[in-house]
Amino acid sequence: MSENHVNPRPRDITLRFLAEPTDVNFGGKVHGGAVMKWIDQAGYACAVGWSGSYSVTVYIGGIRFYKPIFIGQIVEVNAMVVHTGTSSMHIAVDVSATDPKTGARKRTTRCLIVFVAVDAGGDTVTVPSWTPVSEADQRFEQYAIHMAQLRKEQEAELLAMDG
Ligand SMILES: CC(C)(COP(=O)(O)OP(=O)(O)OC[C@H]1O[C@@H](n2cnc3c(N)ncnc32)[C@H](O)[C@@H]1OP(=O)(O)O)[C@@H](O)C(=O)NCCC(=O)NCCS
Repeated sequence: MSENHVNPRPRDITLRFLAEPTDVNFGGKVHGGAVMKWIDQAGYACAVGWSGSYSVTVYIGGIRFYKPIFIGQIVEVNAMVVHTGTSSMHIAVDVSATDPKTGARKRTTRCLIVFVAVDAGGDTVTVPSWTPVSEADQRFEQYAIHMAQLRKEQEAELLAMDG
């Protein structure tokens, strides 16, 4: 690959950095809010890379914190397009932490996040469609579609409460 190689539409991106003392919570571990910020940042970079347009978060769902992250661990935040609609990009985000002393790596957090591409006026923009290739991709896409359906039902329930 040449130094100037440009992949115009990368499907995924991984942010990699050290968990810093400024990320700590009252229990001495990384703050959940810091992890959510990293998830949003990785999702944003992934969405903009895929669409080539400024994108905004419209939904963060199914977030699960499996294990704590400790200060000084190497954090990896992988964001990957798993489904596209007209303007939306459904992105699976996976967070892991590695102890640099031992190399032991653990998955800490997972979630699905939806971004929408918008223009300078804030109107939605059509995004390039993503087609699943592998069986794993197809399963991910089915999951994203299923979650979108559940969200519609939830939102309808919430609206019904307004009377
Ligand atoms: C993004 C935004 C411009 C879209 O406007 P809108 O009126 O909802 O537009 P639409 O109804 O046409 O929906 C646009 C897309 O969002 C998707 N969407 C809407 N509600 C959604 C939800 N709850 N979950 C997931 N996707 C959703 C729609 O399915 C649609 O996708 P598609 O084009 O692929 O079919 C508007 O919702 C917005 O500005 N939201 C705030 C974004 C923001 O500030 N984020 C930062 C929060 S801190």
